[in-house]
Amino acid sequence: MQDFWIFGYGSLIWRPDFPFLESRPGNICHWSRRFWQGSHDHRGTKNRPGRVLTLIASEGKLCYGRAFRVTKEVLAHLDQREKNGYKRHDVSIQLPSTRVAGIVYIASQQNAAFLGDAPLEAIADQICQSEGPSGSNVEYLTKLADALKGLRINDDHVFRLDALVRKKLGLDTN
Ligand code: SIN
Repeated sequence: MQDFWIFGYGSLIWRPDFPFLESRPGNICHWSRRFWQGSHDHRGTKNRPGRVLTLIASEGKLCYGRAFRVTKEVLAHLDQREKNGYKRHDVSIQLPSTRVAGIVYIASQQNAAFLGDAPLEAIADQICQSEGPSGSNVEYLTKLADALKGLRINDDHVFRLDALVRKKLGLDTN
């Protein structure tokens, strides 16, 4: 394995802090993005975990994101970055003109930091209140929403949360 593809659907989209050989828009089948994973290492603390993204199995749904072709040296860095509950999964990624095999980091419902579903208002409040070593939870959400818009990716869950949080904080809507 000289190089391989990673599918990014969350912060990997807007903060790829690793070298990559190329990056393409892509999608994977039967998954949906949800702010259901707790974060006490990046966007929250042990006492006040933030909420970050994971993928939830969703029959027939396409999750759009950004795929990166990387060398295997990048794996150790990504395993460290995604260490709080995320595991690598093999996945088939649809790129604009071809389908490739790759991996994606998913935090399953069995991991200790998993928070699961909650009313959108409650998720928005938790995001507004959380901050961790990597920065504010609000930054994670708003930068992701901006990046998805830049890539012309529509995601109702993310955009509704982004609008709620911006309203609560009196931030510009876009
Ligand atoms: C990803 O972006 O693909 C994984 C979740 C995250 O780090 O936000």
